[in-house]
Amino acid sequence: EIAFYQDRFVDVDEAVIPIQERGHQFGDGIYEVIRIYDGKPFTMPEHMARLEKSLAAIKMPLPYPIEEIERIALEALDKSGLKEAEIYMQITRGIFLRQHQFPEPSSPVISIVVKNARTVSEEKRAAGVPVITTEDVRWKLCHIKSLNLLPNVMAKQEAYEAGAHEAVFVEKGIVKEGSSTNIFCVKDGVVQTHPATNGILHGITRQVVLDLADELGIPVEERTFSLAELKNAEEVFLTSTTMEVLKVSSVDGEKLSEERTVIDQLYTAFQERKQMA
Ligand code: PDD
Repeated sequence: EIAFYQDRFVDVDEAVIPIQERGHQFGDGIYEVIRIYDGKPFTMPEHMARLEKSLAAIKMPLPYPIEEIERIALEALDKSGLKEAEIYMQITRGIFLRQHQFPEPSSPVISIVVKNARTVSEEKRAAGVPVITTEDVRWKLCHIKSLNLLPNVMAKQEAYEAGAHEAVFVEKGIVKEGSSTNIFCVKDGVVQTHPATNGILHGITRQVVLDLADELGIPVEERTFSLAELKNAEEVFLTSTTMEVLKVSSVDGEKLSEERTVIDQLYTAFQERKQMA
């Protein structure tokens, strides 16, 4: 494990954040999580592009050119010596006296942590995971990968207390996404997921899976679907950087179909895509 804060490499446990850091006091910042397979970053350009979009959306300038941030992340990875890893990267609006408006001049602060990747057990992959649903109480700009994750934290905790793996946000009967995942269903052979609006995070894995389905000749449709449609779907699965493509076995305690033809095809294609990275 290794970390980087502002301008230097540090031990992950070293205390580095001043009290008046805006990430700490306001959650005023954005982040990314990038998976490393066998020492090589997966979809790094896509993650860096999303990072730039999140920064632009919160009107925050880059502390250094994006190439420099990528270089620091890769140097951290190299120093960590890890092969199956996760890079956590965040940029906040920096250190200033506590006032809501932006500091002048702007001085964003970057921090990075490289640690061992979390993985999903083979048992869970085979059996699928239970999910619960919860009301989407988040703000209207969920496409920004913001540090403000309190609703996501509350939802995930609700899932864990219910013995479930994920909590799925539902708004006015429409299925949005999980607390840290995107959600898909298969209906009449068509792979479906919520459109990439401001109402969800535009998951990198979500896009990889849509592309893979296309390449496999499986029809895809980005459309909204209801909770009832989800429960009656042929297949339901989650996607994320850390979970990849993961079958859902039940929703709010109601067992789903055991069908997994499309999930298995997409999971296999995903493993092949990883090797190409
Ligand atoms: N979570 N939706 C939300 C709300 C997320 O937080 C995430 C990612 C995703 C999936 O996005 P991607 O495929 O780019 O990982 C969807 C990360 C992994 C996290 O917070 O740990």
